Amino acid sequence: MASVAFNHVTKKFGDTSVLNGLDLEVADGEFLVLLGPSGCGKTTALRMVAGLESPTTGTVAIGGSVVNDVAPQHRDVAMVFQNYALYPHLSVAKNIEFPLRQRDISADIRAQKVRDVAQMLGLAELLDRKPRQLSGGQRQRVALARAIVREPVCFLMDEPLSNLDATLRARTRSEIVRLQHELATTTIFVTHDQVEAMTMGDRIAVLNAGDLQQVGTPTELFENPANAFVAGFIGNPGMSLLSANASQGQLAIGGTQTPFSASGLNGAVTIGVRIDGVELSSSGIAAICDGVEVLGAEVHVLAHLGDDQIIVRQGASAPRPKIGEQIFIQLTTEPLYFDAVTGLRVSQ
Ligand SMILES: Nc1ncnc2c1ncn2[C@@H]1O[C@H](COP(=O)(O)OP(=O)(O)OP(=O)(O)O)[C@@H](O)[C@H]1O
Ligand SMILES: [Mg+2]
Repeated sequence: MASVAFNHVTKKFGDTSVLNGLDLEVADGEFLVLLGPSGCGKTTALRMVAGLESPTTGTVAIGGSVVNDVAPQHRDVAMVFQNYALYPHLSVAKNIEFPLRQRDISADIRAQKVRDVAQMLGLAELLDRKPRQLSGGQRQRVALARAIVREPVCFLMDEPLSNLDATLRARTRSEIVRLQHELATTTIFVTHDQVEAMTMGDRIAVLNAGDLQQVGTPTELFENPANAFVAGFIGNPGMSLLSANASQGQLAIGGTQTPFSASGLNGAVTIGVRIDGVELSSSGIAAICDGVEVLGAEVHVLAHLGDDQIIVRQGASAPRPKIGEQIFIQLTTEPLYFDAVTGLRVSQ
Protein backbone atom coordinates (compact mmCIF):
# COMPACT_ATOMS: atom_id res chain seq x y z
CA MET A 1 0.00 0.00 0.00
CA ALA A 2 1.13 3.49 -0.71
CA SER A 3 0.16 7.11 -1.05
CA VAL A 4 -0.10 8.68 -4.51
CA ALA A 5 0.80 12.29 -5.25
CA PHE A 6 0.53 14.56 -8.26
CA ASN A 7 2.94 17.46 -7.91
CA HIS A 8 2.11 20.30 -10.26
CA VAL A 9 1.44 17.93 -13.12
CA THR A 10 0.69 19.36 -16.54
CA LYS A 11 -0.16 17.36 -19.64
CA LYS A 12 -0.31 18.59 -23.19
CA PHE A 13 -1.20 16.65 -26.33
CA GLY A 14 0.31 18.86 -29.03
CA ASP A 15 -1.09 22.32 -28.37
CA THR A 16 -3.97 21.05 -26.27
CA SER A 17 -3.56 21.41 -22.51
CA VAL A 18 -5.36 18.56 -20.79
CA LEU A 19 -4.13 19.04 -17.20
CA ASN A 20 -3.06 22.43 -15.87
CA GLY A 21 -0.78 21.97 -12.87
CA LEU A 22 -2.55 19.27 -10.90
CA ASP A 23 -1.61 19.12 -7.21
CA LEU A 24 -3.32 16.26 -5.43
CA GLU A 25 -2.38 13.85 -2.67
CA VAL A 26 -4.13 10.55 -2.08
CA ALA A 27 -3.38 9.13 1.36
CA ASP A 28 -2.28 5.57 1.96
CA GLY A 29 -5.42 3.40 2.07
CA GLU A 30 -7.73 6.20 0.97
CA PHE A 31 -10.58 5.85 -1.54
CA LEU A 32 -10.36 8.97 -3.67
CA VAL A 33 -12.84 9.68 -6.45
CA LEU A 34 -11.71 11.81 -9.38
CA LEU A 35 -14.92 13.41 -10.63
CA GLY A 36 -15.61 15.66 -13.59
CA PRO A 37 -17.43 16.01 -16.90
CA SER A 38 -16.41 14.17 -20.05
CA GLY A 39 -13.07 15.33 -21.45
CA CYS A 40 -11.83 17.08 -18.28
CA GLY A 41 -8.68 14.92 -18.02
CA LYS A 42 -9.64 12.15 -15.57
CA THR A 43 -8.42 9.18 -17.62
CA THR A 44 -5.26 11.06 -18.54
CA ALA A 45 -4.48 11.65 -14.85
CA LEU A 46 -5.10 7.99 -14.02
CA ARG A 47 -2.97 6.77 -16.93
CA MET A 48 -0.10 8.86 -15.60
CA VAL A 49 -0.21 6.97 -12.30
CA ALA A 50 -0.23 3.69 -14.23
CA GLY A 51 2.71 4.86 -16.33
CA LEU A 52 0.77 4.65 -19.60
CA GLU A 53 1.17 8.39 -20.13
CA SER A 54 3.93 10.69 -18.87
CA PRO A 55 3.51 14.21 -17.49
CA THR A 56 4.64 17.08 -19.71
CA THR A 57 5.92 18.78 -16.56
CA GLY A 58 5.65 17.95 -12.86
CA THR A 59 5.98 14.66 -11.03
CA VAL A 60 3.88 11.69 -10.03
CA ALA A 61 4.93 9.91 -6.83
CA ILE A 62 3.85 6.55 -5.43
CA GLY A 63 4.73 5.79 -1.83
CA GLY A 64 6.77 8.97 -1.67
CA SER A 65 9.02 8.07 -4.63
CA VAL A 66 8.82 9.88 -7.96
CA VAL A 67 7.88 7.35 -10.64
CA ASN A 68 8.07 9.50 -13.79
CA ASP A 69 10.83 7.26 -15.13
CA VAL A 70 9.52 3.95 -13.77
CA ALA A 71 8.03 1.59 -16.38
CA PRO A 72 4.35 0.57 -15.90
CA GLN A 73 5.17 -3.04 -15.03
CA HIS A 74 7.42 -1.87 -12.20
CA ARG A 75 4.87 0.43 -10.57
CA ASP A 76 2.88 -2.27 -8.80
CA VAL A 77 -0.49 -0.65 -9.53
CA ALA A 78 -3.55 -2.42 -10.95
CA MET A 79 -5.88 -0.68 -13.36
CA VAL A 80 -9.51 -1.69 -13.96
CA PHE A 81 -10.94 -0.38 -17.22
CA GLN A 82 -14.48 0.48 -18.25
CA ASN A 83 -14.53 -2.27 -20.90
CA TYR A 84 -13.09 -4.93 -18.51
CA ALA A 85 -10.42 -5.98 -21.08
CA LEU A 86 -10.72 -9.71 -20.34
CA TYR A 87 -9.03 -12.33 -22.52
CA PRO A 88 -11.96 -13.89 -24.44
CA HIS A 89 -10.28 -17.27 -25.06
CA LEU A 90 -9.27 -17.79 -21.41
CA SER A 91 -11.50 -19.14 -18.65
CA VAL A 92 -12.46 -16.98 -15.68
CA ALA A 93 -9.83 -18.79 -13.58
CA LYS A 94 -7.09 -18.20 -16.18
CA ASN A 95 -8.12 -14.56 -16.59
CA ILE A 96 -7.82 -13.98 -12.85
CA GLU A 97 -4.58 -15.92 -12.64
CA PHE A 98 -3.01 -14.11 -15.58
CA PRO A 99 -1.12 -11.37 -13.69
CA LEU A 100 0.39 -14.00 -11.37
CA ARG A 101 1.84 -16.02 -14.22
CA GLN A 102 4.52 -13.41 -14.87
CA ARG A 103 5.68 -13.84 -11.30
CA ASP A 104 7.72 -16.51 -9.66
CA ILE A 105 4.82 -18.14 -7.81
CA SER A 106 4.16 -21.89 -7.72
CA ALA A 107 1.10 -23.26 -9.52
CA ASP A 108 -0.42 -24.42 -6.21
CA ILE A 109 -0.19 -20.99 -4.62
CA ARG A 110 -1.49 -19.35 -7.78
CA ALA A 111 -4.53 -21.65 -7.76
CA GLN A 112 -5.13 -20.93 -4.07
CA LYS A 113 -4.99 -17.17 -4.61
CA VAL A 114 -7.43 -17.45 -7.52
CA ARG A 115 -9.83 -19.52 -5.39
CA ASP A 116 -9.62 -17.03 -2.50
CA VAL A 117 -10.33 -13.97 -4.57
CA ALA A 118 -13.07 -15.76 -6.56
CA GLN A 119 -14.70 -16.62 -3.23
CA MET A 120 -14.45 -13.03 -2.09
CA LEU A 121 -16.23 -11.82 -5.25
CA GLY A 122 -18.81 -14.58 -5.59
CA LEU A 123 -17.16 -16.08 -8.68
CA ALA A 124 -16.32 -19.51 -7.27
CA GLU A 125 -18.99 -21.26 -9.35
CA LEU A 126 -17.96 -19.54 -12.57
CA LEU A 127 -14.23 -20.29 -12.73
CA ASP A 128 -14.48 -22.62 -15.76
CA ARG A 129 -16.60 -20.30 -17.90
CA LYS A 130 -15.35 -18.09 -20.71
CA PRO A 131 -16.07 -14.32 -20.51
CA ARG A 132 -18.76 -14.55 -23.24
CA GLN A 133 -20.70 -16.92 -20.96
CA LEU A 134 -20.92 -14.24 -18.24
CA SER A 135 -23.25 -11.30 -17.64
CA GLY A 136 -21.85 -7.77 -17.68
CA GLY A 137 -21.79 -7.66 -13.89
CA GLN A 138 -19.96 -10.96 -13.64
CA ARG A 139 -17.37 -9.81 -16.19
CA GLN A 140 -16.87 -6.68 -14.12
CA ARG A 141 -16.22 -8.81 -11.04
CA VAL A 142 -13.66 -10.90 -12.95
CA ALA A 143 -11.86 -7.70 -13.93
CA LEU A 144 -11.86 -6.64 -10.26
CA ALA A 145 -10.67 -10.07 -9.17
CA ARG A 146 -7.79 -9.87 -11.61
CA ALA A 147 -6.77 -6.54 -10.10
CA ILE A 148 -7.15 -7.72 -6.49
CA VAL A 149 -5.18 -10.95 -6.96
CA ARG A 150 -2.09 -8.92 -7.78
CA GLU A 151 -2.15 -7.31 -4.33
CA PRO A 152 -1.02 -4.01 -5.81
CA VAL A 153 -0.07 -0.93 -3.79
CA CYS A 154 -2.83 1.00 -5.54
CA PHE A 155 -6.03 0.35 -7.52
CA LEU A 156 -6.79 2.62 -10.46
CA MET A 157 -10.39 2.31 -11.64
CA ASP A 158 -11.60 4.11 -14.75
CA GLU A 159 -15.41 4.25 -14.81
CA PRO A 160 -15.58 0.53 -14.07
CA LEU A 161 -19.36 0.54 -13.52
CA SER A 162 -20.55 2.45 -16.56
CA ASN A 163 -21.47 -0.66 -18.59
CA LEU A 164 -23.76 -2.01 -15.87
CA ASP A 165 -27.50 -1.42 -15.59
CA ALA A 166 -28.72 0.88 -12.81
CA THR A 167 -29.56 -1.82 -10.24
CA LEU A 168 -26.34 -3.72 -10.73
CA ARG A 169 -24.35 -0.50 -10.67
CA ALA A 170 -25.75 0.41 -7.26
CA ARG A 171 -24.97 -3.06 -5.91
CA THR A 172 -21.46 -3.20 -7.35
CA ARG A 173 -20.83 0.28 -5.96
CA SER A 174 -21.29 -0.92 -2.38
CA GLU A 175 -19.39 -4.12 -3.13
CA ILE A 176 -16.33 -2.17 -4.29
CA VAL A 177 -16.51 0.11 -1.24
CA ARG A 178 -16.72 -2.92 1.07
CA LEU A 179 -13.79 -4.65 -0.63
CA GLN A 180 -11.70 -1.51 -0.54
CA HIS A 181 -12.30 -1.11 3.19
CA GLU A 182 -11.43 -4.74 3.73
CA LEU A 183 -8.23 -4.59 1.68
CA ALA A 184 -7.37 -1.00 2.70
CA THR A 185 -5.63 -0.53 -0.64
CA THR A 186 -5.22 3.05 -1.88
CA THR A 187 -7.78 3.52 -4.65
CA ILE A 188 -8.30 6.22 -7.29
CA PHE A 189 -11.73 5.81 -8.85
CA VAL A 190 -12.62 7.89 -11.90
CA THR A 191 -16.22 8.78 -12.74
CA HIS A 192 -18.32 11.54 -14.28
CA ASP A 193 -21.29 10.44 -12.14
CA GLN A 194 -21.59 12.55 -9.02
CA VAL A 195 -23.92 10.06 -7.31
CA GLU A 196 -21.21 7.41 -7.66
CA ALA A 197 -18.67 9.87 -6.29
CA MET A 198 -20.82 10.93 -3.34
CA THR A 199 -21.65 7.36 -2.34
CA MET A 200 -18.18 5.84 -2.75
CA GLY A 201 -15.42 8.31 -1.99
CA ASP A 202 -13.67 9.05 1.30
CA ARG A 203 -12.85 12.25 -0.56
CA ILE A 204 -13.73 13.60 -3.99
CA ALA A 205 -11.45 15.65 -6.24
CA VAL A 206 -13.52 17.66 -8.73
CA LEU A 207 -11.83 18.38 -12.05
CA ASN A 208 -13.10 20.67 -14.81
CA ALA A 209 -11.28 21.37 -18.08
CA GLY A 210 -7.96 20.23 -16.62
CA ASP A 211 -8.27 22.38 -13.50
CA LEU A 212 -8.74 20.97 -10.02
CA GLN A 213 -11.77 22.74 -8.54
CA GLN A 214 -11.96 21.38 -5.00
CA VAL A 215 -10.99 18.37 -2.93
CA GLY A 216 -13.02 17.29 0.08
CA THR A 217 -15.35 14.79 1.66
CA PRO A 218 -18.75 14.37 0.00
CA THR A 219 -20.36 16.39 2.80
CA GLU A 220 -17.81 19.20 2.52
CA LEU A 221 -18.38 19.54 -1.22
CA PHE A 222 -22.14 19.43 -0.80
CA GLU A 223 -22.34 21.92 2.05
CA ASN A 224 -19.40 24.12 1.21
CA PRO A 225 -18.74 24.26 -2.52
CA ALA A 226 -15.69 26.45 -3.27
CA ASN A 227 -17.12 27.74 -6.53
CA ALA A 228 -20.19 27.79 -8.73
CA PHE A 229 -18.99 24.84 -10.82
CA VAL A 230 -18.81 22.51 -7.81
CA ALA A 231 -22.13 23.88 -6.51
CA GLY A 232 -23.85 23.09 -9.78
CA PHE A 233 -22.16 19.70 -10.27
CA ILE A 234 -22.52 18.14 -6.82
CA GLY A 235 -25.90 17.06 -5.50
CA ASN A 236 -28.89 15.39 -7.04
CA PRO A 237 -29.94 17.81 -8.42
CA GLY A 238 -27.01 20.25 -8.23
CA MET A 239 -27.53 23.80 -7.02
CA SER A 240 -29.48 26.09 -9.31
CA LEU A 241 -27.26 29.07 -10.20
CA LEU A 242 -28.96 32.39 -10.83
CA SER A 243 -27.68 35.83 -11.82
CA ALA A 244 -28.60 38.37 -9.22
CA ASN A 245 -27.86 41.91 -8.23
CA ALA A 246 -26.94 43.23 -4.83
CA SER A 247 -27.32 46.89 -4.11
CA GLN A 248 -27.81 48.95 -0.97
CA GLY A 249 -28.50 45.92 1.15
CA GLN A 250 -31.06 44.47 -1.26
CA LEU A 251 -30.79 41.35 -3.37
CA ALA A 252 -32.74 41.28 -6.63
CA ILE A 253 -33.21 38.33 -8.97
CA GLY A 254 -34.75 39.03 -12.38
CA GLY A 255 -35.75 42.45 -11.08
CA THR A 256 -37.61 41.02 -8.08
CA GLN A 257 -36.49 41.80 -4.55
CA THR A 258 -35.80 38.82 -2.32
CA PRO A 259 -36.02 38.73 1.47
CA PHE A 260 -32.20 38.49 1.64
CA SER A 261 -29.94 41.46 2.00
CA ALA A 262 -26.64 39.99 0.72
CA SER A 263 -25.07 42.51 3.06
CA GLY A 264 -21.61 43.64 2.08
CA LEU A 265 -22.08 42.64 -1.55
CA ASN A 266 -22.54 45.06 -4.38
CA GLY A 267 -23.29 44.62 -8.06
CA ALA A 268 -23.62 41.45 -10.11
CA VAL A 269 -23.41 38.21 -8.17
CA THR A 270 -24.26 34.57 -8.87
CA ILE A 271 -26.40 32.89 -6.25
CA GLY A 272 -26.67 29.17 -5.63
CA VAL A 273 -29.85 27.59 -4.26
CA ARG A 274 -30.56 23.97 -3.47
CA ILE A 275 -33.94 22.52 -4.29
CA ASP A 276 -34.78 22.69 -0.56
CA GLY A 277 -34.23 26.45 -0.57
CA VAL A 278 -36.91 27.45 -3.08
CA GLU A 279 -40.63 26.99 -3.47
CA LEU A 280 -43.39 27.76 -5.94
CA SER A 281 -45.53 30.69 -4.93
CA SER A 282 -48.29 32.92 -6.21
CA SER A 283 -45.86 35.82 -6.48
CA GLY A 284 -42.11 36.37 -6.42
CA ILE A 285 -39.41 35.68 -8.99
CA ALA A 286 -40.99 35.09 -12.41
CA ALA A 287 -39.74 32.11 -14.42
CA ILE A 288 -40.95 30.08 -17.39
CA CYS A 289 -41.72 26.40 -16.92
CA ASP A 290 -39.61 24.08 -19.12
CA GLY A 291 -41.09 20.80 -17.95
CA VAL A 292 -42.21 18.70 -15.02
CA GLU A 293 -40.42 15.53 -13.88
CA VAL A 294 -42.44 13.09 -11.81
CA LEU A 295 -39.94 11.03 -9.81
CA GLY A 296 -42.33 8.93 -7.78
CA ALA A 297 -42.97 10.72 -4.50
CA GLU A 298 -41.16 13.85 -5.72
CA VAL A 299 -42.20 16.18 -8.50
CA HIS A 300 -39.61 18.58 -9.91
CA VAL A 301 -40.54 21.64 -11.92
CA LEU A 302 -37.80 22.77 -14.32
CA ALA A 303 -37.86 26.41 -15.27
CA HIS A 304 -35.70 29.20 -16.62
CA LEU A 305 -35.27 32.92 -16.02
CA GLY A 306 -33.28 34.45 -18.84
CA ASP A 307 -30.32 32.09 -19.39
CA ASP A 308 -30.47 30.56 -15.90
CA GLN A 309 -32.08 27.23 -15.09
CA ILE A 310 -33.81 26.49 -11.81
CA ILE A 311 -35.42 23.38 -10.32
CA VAL A 312 -38.23 23.62 -7.76
CA ARG A 313 -39.93 20.81 -5.87
CA GLN A 314 -43.71 20.58 -6.02
CA GLY A 315 -46.24 18.84 -3.84
CA ALA A 316 -47.52 15.56 -5.33
CA SER A 317 -51.10 16.80 -5.56
CA ALA A 318 -50.47 20.41 -6.61
CA PRO A 319 -51.60 21.42 -10.11
CA ARG A 320 -48.73 20.98 -12.55
CA PRO A 321 -47.63 24.03 -14.52
CA LYS A 322 -47.55 23.62 -18.30
CA ILE A 323 -44.49 24.05 -20.47
CA GLY A 324 -44.15 27.71 -21.40
CA GLU A 325 -46.37 28.88 -18.52
CA GLN A 326 -45.14 31.62 -16.17
CA ILE A 327 -44.54 30.50 -12.60
CA PHE A 328 -43.38 32.34 -9.49
CA ILE A 329 -40.63 31.25 -7.14
CA GLN A 330 -39.57 32.37 -3.68
CA LEU A 331 -36.31 31.71 -1.91
CA THR A 332 -36.90 30.17 1.51
CA THR A 333 -33.31 29.97 2.75
CA GLU A 334 -30.26 32.18 2.40
CA PRO A 335 -28.49 31.28 -0.86
CA LEU A 336 -24.73 30.88 -1.36
CA TYR A 337 -22.99 33.71 -3.18
CA PHE A 338 -20.42 33.37 -5.97
CA ASP A 339 -18.44 35.95 -7.90
CA ALA A 340 -20.37 36.65 -11.12
CA VAL A 341 -17.16 36.54 -13.19
CA THR A 342 -14.78 34.03 -11.56
CA GLY A 343 -17.45 31.82 -9.98
CA LEU A 344 -15.47 31.75 -6.72
CA ARG A 345 -17.43 31.67 -3.50
CA VAL A 346 -17.70 35.08 -1.87
CA SER A 347 -18.53 35.58 1.74
CA GLN A 348 -20.84 38.37 2.66
N1 LIG B 1 -3.64 10.68 -26.95
C1 LIG B 1 -4.30 11.83 -27.05
N2 LIG B 1 -4.03 12.73 -28.00
C2 LIG B 1 -4.68 13.90 -28.08
N3 LIG B 1 -5.64 14.29 -27.23
C3 LIG B 1 -5.97 13.44 -26.25
C4 LIG B 1 -5.33 12.17 -26.10
N4 LIG B 1 -5.87 11.54 -25.02
C5 LIG B 1 -6.80 12.39 -24.54
N5 LIG B 1 -6.87 13.53 -25.26
C6 LIG B 1 -7.75 14.68 -25.00
O1 LIG B 1 -7.55 15.08 -23.67
C7 LIG B 1 -8.77 15.49 -23.06
C8 LIG B 1 -8.97 14.71 -21.78
O2 LIG B 1 -9.15 13.36 -22.10
P1 LIG B 1 -9.47 12.27 -20.98
O3 LIG B 1 -9.61 10.97 -21.67
O4 LIG B 1 -8.46 12.37 -19.90
O5 LIG B 1 -10.88 12.80 -20.45
P2 LIG B 1 -11.86 12.13 -19.39
O6 LIG B 1 -12.04 13.15 -18.32
O7 LIG B 1 -11.39 10.79 -19.01
O8 LIG B 1 -13.22 12.05 -20.23
P3 LIG B 1 -14.36 10.88 -20.26
O9 LIG B 1 -15.24 11.13 -19.05
O10 LIG B 1 -15.10 11.18 -21.54
O11 LIG B 1 -13.67 9.57 -20.27
C9 LIG B 1 -9.84 15.27 -24.11
O12 LIG B 1 -10.14 16.51 -24.71
C10 LIG B 1 -9.21 14.32 -25.09
O13 LIG B 1 -9.73 14.51 -26.38
MG1 LIG C 1 -12.11 8.87 -19.35
